[in-house]
Amino acid sequence: MIIRPLSVQDAEKMRELRLLGLQTDPYAFGSAYETEVKKPMEFFESRCEETGDKVFFGVFVQGSLKGMGSIRREQAPKYRHHAEINAVYVHPDFRGRGVSQLILKNCIDRARSWDGVEYIQLGVSTINEPAIHIYTKAGFSIWGTMKSALKIDGKDIDEHMMCLSLKHAESNHNNPPR
Ligand SMILES: CC(C)(COP(=O)(O)OP(=O)(O)OC[C@H]1O[C@@H](n2cnc3c(N)ncnc32)[C@H](O)[C@@H]1OP(=O)(O)O)[C@@H](O)C(=O)NCCC(=O)NCCS
Repeated sequence: MIIRPLSVQDAEKMRELRLLGLQTDPYAFGSAYETEVKKPMEFFESRCEETGDKVFFGVFVQGSLKGMGSIRREQAPKYRHHAEINAVYVHPDFRGRGVSQLILKNCIDRARSWDGVEYIQLGVSTINEPAIHIYTKAGFSIWGTMKSALKIDGKDIDEHMMCLSLKHAESNHNNPPR
């Protein structure tokens, strides 16, 4: 198993795994399968492209993309001390092996390397217990809950807002909030 930043050349594999994720776990993402399936390849190429402010990590098993997740630094001057994790997904056949922990560690390390980034933010559906578990284990804590953040097939889904402070990264990591 190896993890590395995706590049434009990985766009096709990323699209395939992303579309699978939008179908297997629709409540986990703000985007819908029906929307992304129509997007041109340039959309996925652009998401895969690494810049000084964003990176999409991929986990490969025997050359096949089985897990991924992205981190992006906010652009606006007043928000540049925040970064956001998005699109974390592990293929159903490869869950429970620590793949997401590898993804989160790489995302957090990358945010730490960005001068001036103090917080990593993310949103997670309140019904998504495995995801809440992995983020809490990585040191994130819930600071708020958005009611009815998503509506899927008429059903309201609330979303927890979670944050990791990099100002006290060591104590966050070793002592997850209770
Ligand atoms: C959430 C997800 C990324 C986790 O990936 P993973 O590679 O299986 O995670 P890991 O193997 O690193 O860790 C799984 C952990 O979740 C725990 N877990 C599994 N099912 C759980 C549940 N129902 N409730 C609470 N914890 C659970 C496991 O015990 C394990 O924790 P441990 O290491 O402390 O024992 C994966 O399930 C996934 O892709 N889900 C669909 C997409 C998604 O939800 N993405 C997040 C969007 S915010």
